[in-house]
Amino acid sequence: MSNLRLSIQGALQRWAMIPRKVRSLWARFWLSRAGLSPAGRISARLAAWLTPPYKGRHYLAAMTPRGFISPRATIYHKDLRLGPHVFIGDGVTIFQGTGGGPVKIDEAACLWGNSHLETGEGGGITIGAESRVNRGVSLISYLAPIQIGRDVGLGENSIFYSFNHGIAPGVPYLEQPLETRGPIIVEDYAWIGAGAIVLDGVRIGKGAVVGAGAVVTRDIPDGGIAFGVPAQVVRMRGKTSRNGVGGDAEKQSGLVDTRHDATHTGSKPPE
Ligand SMILES: CC(C)(COP(=O)(O)OP(=O)(O)OC[C@H]1O[C@@H](n2cnc3c(N)ncnc32)[C@H](O)[C@@H]1OP(=O)(O)O)[C@@H](O)C(=O)NCCC(=O)NCCS
Repeated sequence: MSNLRLSIQGALQRWAMIPRKVRSLWARFWLSRAGLSPAGRISARLAAWLTPPYKGRHYLAAMTPRGFISPRATIYHKDLRLGPHVFIGDGVTIFQGTGGGPVKIDEAACLWGNSHLETGEGGGITIGAESRVNRGVSLISYLAPIQIGRDVGLGENSIFYSFNHGIAPGVPYLEQPLETRGPIIVEDYAWIGAGAIVLDGVRIGKGAVVGAGAVVTRDIPDGGIAFGVPAQVVRMRGKTSRNGVGGDAEKQSGLVDTRHDATHTGSKPPE
């Protein structure tokens, strides 16, 4: 056992001594052959050989337009559409149920690991450019689509369901027809906190913030900060808070509408 450890350590040391340029050529060579076929999976494994784990290998996605799909991701989907430089990490599952529509992941979006994307019965998922899907996120789209905008952050273990089981009395829930109140839409630059749950038919506005653990049952306006169960809009971004969320940097960025004050509590979008 110790011999094995020594030889692994030796290999790591030798690899670290290889000039960065050579390592980069190695990665590029295998990444240009990587893909979803069995051979492509092996190429991805070789490209990632002795690279750091998790987010530490993100740079691989930037190297070629093919991006990086971890050989430890489970892809069982015939309509997966990937933009350039997409990163799909270890333990991600992308699954197509019966009648499932496309999963579209735009340029440079990152699925860091262990997230679950599933489409069925006409559902479809879009993840906008440069958005970040953290560990444990579930995006489950049946009947109605889930659309995540660009540069959106989905916090760890946040969950999105675009459908419900019927709840008529006297019938087991699995025998009830699926139903939906409509698509889930998360607009550009929004940030969803860890463990939030977003239900069907909800629009989360541009630059809005959803607090950790919230259950979102109604629309949140552009720039709104909402939390709680059910989520309530407590104020608008642009107002500096205890932990520094909001404030001048956001105002200057022009990302959020700052015309509304902290007393806005409804789910009605700002005029
Ligand atoms: C929503 C959030 C941004 C609000 O930040 P904030 O406006 O600075 O809020 P404050 O810390 O000033 O708290 C204001 C009040 O709201 C409460 N509160 C804050 N976040 C809350 C939440 N998620 N759920 C319930 N109550 C919350 C606070 O307890 C405080 O209550 P009090 O006035 O009775 O003391 C932040 O609390 C949050 O939930 N961030 C998400 C963190 C996360 O998931 N990170 C993962 C990164 S991907």
